Amino acid sequence: NKFYVGNAGDYWHPPFPIGADHDYRTHVRQIRDMEIRDDDIMICSYPKTGGHWQQEIIHMLVYKTTRMCSEGEKAFCFIDFSPVSTFADVSSPRLLVTHVPFRYLPRQAFQKKIKIIYLERNPKDVLVSYYNQLHSHVPPLHYPGTFEHFFRLNLEVGFVYGDLFDYLMEWQNGREAHPDLQICTSVYEDMKLDPVEGVERFNAYLCTGCSDELCEEIAAACSFDRMKSHKDATTPAWLKAMFREKKLEFYRKGEVGDWKNWFSVAMNEEFDAEYKKRMSEYKTIYKYTL
Ligand code: A3P
Repeated sequence: NKFYVGNAGDYWHPPFPIGADHDYRTHVRQIRDMEIRDDDIMICSYPKTGGHWQQEIIHMLVYKTTRMCSEGEKAFCFIDFSPVSTFADVSSPRLLVTHVPFRYLPRQAFQKKIKIIYLERNPKDVLVSYYNQLHSHVPPLHYPGTFEHFFRLNLEVGFVYGDLFDYLMEWQNGREAHPDLQICTSVYEDMKLDPVEGVERFNAYLCTGCSDELCEEIAAACSFDRMKSHKDATTPAWLKAMFREKKLEFYRKGEVGDWKNWFSVAMNEEFDAEYKKRMSEYKTIYKYTL
């Protein structure tokens, strides 16, 4: 299905058209060429790494508040699906969010060496989370197959944004080729283990100057339960309408290790073998359980 797997040789493909005269190739070029400001903060990740959670934390730090954004509020510039001109008049500092592979990042982000935050999560939970979100959508985003089908499709071809292992390796290689970039990595499992420490790391990296007390309050304000209920209550109808049961699957379980409820023993062995084969050079050691 070309809609989901992108075109051969160039995997990333937004899951819905950006506009009749604005196909994804044009869009990728616009991302590469977009105007970047010195104080832009760019949050990069493969989908389903806890982006909404950590974006919210970063927004609170930047604005020194514990006020949570409502879902759909224009607090974040998700550059992948809207023409980049949409974000030209957003006030600074802009929080740019993207899942595009390393090679498509804006050129000026490299030249201006803006602050980049890179999110990681163990890939078994990423696949489960990705499946659940896509399965819960209405068409055309709805993924109709079983988890096993999705799992196999991912191991064999990749999905929207391409193959997860390629994405991770490309980021690792890209960082090594650009050691002068400012990149702070945040790993989902570490954030779950000690959210206050995670918030304090962002505070130090971004020089947002929040007190220890405020960092603690932000970590608590962004707990899974609080985020889920707030977002459920504030999500506009147009966004809810994208989901079959009209509930946001961006806030599903928020746990480490849910993959055990989805992977059979055989699938797990297959995944581990594939990981060993293709990711032996990969440096992050993931925690698959806490
Ligand atoms: P699950 O599907 O495993 O529950 P993203 O925001 O990048 O799309 O990632 C979504 C994942 O992050 C979902 O994982 C979601 O439940 C989890 N998540 C969202 N808010 C969270 C929070 N405050 N704490 C922990 N996990 C959270």
